[in-house]
Amino acid sequence: MSGDCDFGLIGLAVMGENLALNVESRGYKVAVYNRTTSKVDELLAGRAKGKNFVGTHTLEEFVAAVARPRKLMMLVKAGPAVDALIDSLIPLCDEGDILIDGGNTYYVDTEERTKRVEAAGLLYVGAGVSGGEEGALKGPSLMPGGTEAAWPHIKDMFQAIAAKVGPNDDIPCCEWVGPRGAGHYVKMVHNGIEYGDMQLICEAYQLLHELGGLSNEELYDVFAKWNEGVLQSYLIEITRDIFSAKDDQGGDGYLVDKILDVAGAKGTGKWMSQLALDLGVPSTLVTTAVFARGLSAQKEARTRASKTLNGPSDSLNPEMSALAKKLTGDKQAFIDAVHDALYASKIVSYAQGFVQLQAASAEHDWKLDYGQAALLWRGGCIIRAQFLDRIKEAFGEQPDLENLLLYPYFEEAVENAQAGWRAVVSAASLLGIPVPAFSAALNYFDGYRLERLPANLLQAQRDYFGAHTYQRVDREGTFHSEWLDLRKQP
Ligand code: 6PG
Repeated sequence: MSGDCDFGLIGLAVMGENLALNVESRGYKVAVYNRTTSKVDELLAGRAKGKNFVGTHTLEEFVAAVARPRKLMMLVKAGPAVDALIDSLIPLCDEGDILIDGGNTYYVDTEERTKRVEAAGLLYVGAGVSGGEEGALKGPSLMPGGTEAAWPHIKDMFQAIAAKVGPNDDIPCCEWVGPRGAGHYVKMVHNGIEYGDMQLICEAYQLLHELGGLSNEELYDVFAKWNEGVLQSYLIEITRDIFSAKDDQGGDGYLVDKILDVAGAKGTGKWMSQLALDLGVPSTLVTTAVFARGLSAQKEARTRASKTLNGPSDSLNPEMSALAKKLTGDKQAFIDAVHDALYASKIVSYAQGFVQLQAASAEHDWKLDYGQAALLWRGGCIIRAQFLDRIKEAFGEQPDLENLLLYPYFEEAVENAQAGWRAVVSAASLLGIPVPAFSAALNYFDGYRLERLPANLLQAQRDYFGAHTYQRVDREGTFHSEWLDLRKQP
């Protein structure tokens, strides 16, 4: 038996509820189900009152309420809960029905589930959904992948609910990404880039606050200005706003100053880092951002260490001190240098993210369209930014572009930002302020642009102690040397 709902949504936490409301608002009839069924009743009596919703209290009722081929989306905690739901839904569904997972699922699970659900005669979609609560309600970025035959059935609805960009606000931030786990992989890289962006912004904040002496009011003004230029983005915008938020617990001053400096994480940045290691691609911005969160979480250890470990203030010699002063002394020049460091580092971070996407696409034969990925992130999601237009343009012109740093627009942008970037990293180092992401980005840039790195010595060491062999610059082949015989005798 099937009903007349166009769409079914399982999981009425805030994201699910908002997404269901979004779908209904575009003229679709929506069936909803939640394991704690009182949530269904609350929604129907509250925000969905008078709207085109059908509330259901069992999975049987839920599946029966939706028209075939059914489009059933799960927005539940990623992990075993999704498998349990799939197992319960398969026997209730008919051939050709579509199961959609909108959670932050590990892509390997989506690869496996796509095959499992297809084997049961259904279609499976793993859709990255970004944009937080507001995005879910008003227009998220959607990154669907899985069984391609599902796309014609869900395309209109997904593109209707997605964020729109472009001069006429009519280009949806939703396109088919690729087979199996491709959509969730792209979403994971989005999150990894989000980690990098956030860490870079936090480093800019610490520098401006501690070395530049900027107050929250001044930081608000700086971020407001930055948001009108090349750094324009959602994350810069919300950071600006954070600097203006007063304590909501009745205390004096600003809320940001009252927040414990211990970062949380749900795991997508860690996944991207682990997968970068597996692929052998140096996605150093995300790994650095993950480790920076890890160090922040060691609050008690840091508090103990802060009482004994000294920074450069105790040992800085006069020349270093003068140089540091020169680099930070002119307030506006320092703000501009931090801007440039942030911009150049951000370019490196995105360049690394796309290199990882390319490597993953090759490994899994996903045939990802990188310009399209940039477009999907152009609106609705957490990393939305004007600058993604340029990335779209870059891959539009050169679909096989090896690295974004080689695209003339970004090459020039980094060139122009380089002096400020180096000054900031130097000043931070001289004055003992950690800038792990700014420096990781700069080190990647310097490593990437050098034809010769010291890995010749590394290969010699490996061959010396383990006969791991090496190649030569002047002749073909694989070589091993008897280093003990070749060395200078002690
Ligand atoms: C989004 C966000 C979303 C969420 C992450 C945060 O695109 O809407 O990326 O997925 O904010 O779960 O992850 P952490 O808790 O690891 O920072």
